[in-house]
Amino acid sequence: MADLSALTAQALVQIGASESLAALDELRVHWLGKKGVLTEQLKALGGLKPAERPAAGARINAAKTELHSAIEARRTTLEQASIVQALTSGRIDVSLPGRGEATGGMHPITRVRLRIEELFRNAGYEVAEGPEVEDEFHNFEALNIPADHPARAMHDTFYLEDGLLLRTHTSPVQIRAMLSRKPPLALIAPGRVYRCDSDVSHSPMFHQVEGLLVDTDVSFANLKAVLHQFMEALFERPLAMRLRPSYFPFTEPSAEVDISCVLCDGQGCRVCKQTGWLEVAGCGMVHPNVFKACGIDSERYTGFAFGFGIERLAMLRYGVNDLRLFYDNDLRFLAQFARG
Ligand code: DAH
Repeated sequence: MADLSALTAQALVQIGASESLAALDELRVHWLGKKGVLTEQLKALGGLKPAERPAAGARINAAKTELHSAIEARRTTLEQASIVQALTSGRIDVSLPGRGEATGGMHPITRVRLRIEELFRNAGYEVAEGPEVEDEFHNFEALNIPADHPARAMHDTFYLEDGLLLRTHTSPVQIRAMLSRKPPLALIAPGRVYRCDSDVSHSPMFHQVEGLLVDTDVSFANLKAVLHQFMEALFERPLAMRLRPSYFPFTEPSAEVDISCVLCDGQGCRVCKQTGWLEVAGCGMVHPNVFKACGIDSERYTGFAFGFGIERLAMLRYGVNDLRLFYDNDLRFLAQFARG
């Protein structure tokens, strides 16, 4: 038989030096497993004289017990070390200050649009929509703008294939509404429109709101009253309003809508070019040719229509002097509108 105490001493050194649970388990198999060193010693007992066997067997078992406890002790040490390691490596410093939360906000154009929608909804108008990719019929023809009409040139149209185009105004939504439904009609149609134009006060994409009211007894006075009340509600102050004669192919008579300057109260300033007035919309009574294109009897029905740009109203309401600020997406600009 090998020198048991030398073997035990060697095993204890190896156990004490093992660095991982896996290495420790390999040692357990090597020394105490079915074919382990000490197990082989037990098997060798048969080679001893019978009288010597009990004492030798007892010594081997004592050695096994000693190694077994050494392995368990080492296992506990290694397990604790790995818990400490896991705790310190994933440690969260709860005393660090928070990062704060960045709250988003609505875009100023969206804000103004929602406010316009709310004001008209309260007055009994519905909010309608139409496609941004239109055809010549809805964008021009039915609005009394035939192919050779000079007004077409003023629209700086983006043409697409197959007679389609990006709508140049929200007026085609009037046509869609009148073609699909019968009067009485009271609606506004906010949305994006497109024109091939770009500078401080023009963007190739901008927003308009179209308005339409059709019934048996609609007058020009009704139109003026509705627009006046709307402008005062939007700007939250008393305003003077005037209608100047103008021309749009889809209305007759037509007018430009001016309000007293919201920045100088009509006194004259840089924004109103010292006139005291701001041009904010176009309007008029629906042209009989438009009713005709939509199959509505112009002897029985009358109607008014109006259209304005959301950007222009937003610039006046918030005192913004460059249209492009709305599209730069500079958070320092946008954050000013996030609340309130
Ligand atoms: N569609 C016109 C434009 O884009 C705006 C407009 C003017 C709409 C007069 C109307 C209207 O409905 O009556 O310039």
